[in-house]
Amino acid sequence: MITRPDDACCAVVTTTVKPVHVACIMDGNGRWAQRRGLPRTAGHTAGEENLAAIVRASVARDIDYLTVFGFSTENWVRPRGEVRHILGLHKKLFGRINELNDLNVKVQWIGRPFDEASAKTPRYVQRAIRKAISDTSRNTGMTMTVAFDYGSRTEIAHAARKLASTHQEPSVLNMTNQMYLPNMPKVDVLVRTSGETRISNFLLWQAVGAPSYFTDNTWPEFSAEDLDLALQLAETFKDAETVETVTRPN
Ligand code: FPP
Repeated sequence: MITRPDDACCAVVTTTVKPVHVACIMDGNGRWAQRRGLPRTAGHTAGEENLAAIVRASVARDIDYLTVFGFSTENWVRPRGEVRHILGLHKKLFGRINELNDLNVKVQWIGRPFDEASAKTPRYVQRAIRKAISDTSRNTGMTMTVAFDYGSRTEIAHAARKLASTHQEPSVLNMTNQMYLPNMPKVDVLVRTSGETRISNFLLWQAVGAPSYFTDNTWPEFSAEDLDLALQLAETFKDAETVETVTRPN
């Protein structure tokens, strides 16, 4: 491992050990429910349960980072009842502390900072997020990052504003360092379910160059076999070269 100083605030560490990072756009919950004559909310409930199963499958496969798009900056305009239901499911997911600790999973959150003027995250969700992060902080296995009130454009604009306000060069390295989670490694494969072949407003900075695994399965149907196919795709595109990650001094 070679470490060289880069600028005043960070260093670039070059390493040959690449973490595996799978990022999922969990689409099609509504269609899953509608096809069964159920309300859309039932699809989201099934989606949360399947996410818990996919977390277990990811741990079993030694995936280092699993990042999921739980709620976007655009999702607030959905019907009030549906929004409330999805927020409740986040509380449920972040409340699975015992399960996550048993799996040695560390929880992270990525999204618009709670104190920003435009932020809308209710306090009970903020509390659930903070508690999950704190109660799993000692875990050393997979990192599960939930994108909540997240949008890539908002994140990139936030980074640009930070650089402007501190009179820093808008270099790629400085921008990376101002992302919500600067130490998050690049995405190795981007998954989107339910037959949609679009990337949307998800991890646009972090997923540059990543292959996409698209499946017709809706999110509640997304299986361990799908995960294996996504990992195979990541493997196909994995370069043999070293990878650079940005780190900050303590
Ligand atoms: C897309 O399906 C899904 C969402 C907008 C929310 C994702 C939420 C979950 C999977 C619930 C559990 C997850 C967490 C992190 C608690 P859609 O409603 O757009 O489906 P459609 O395209 O068929 O209408």
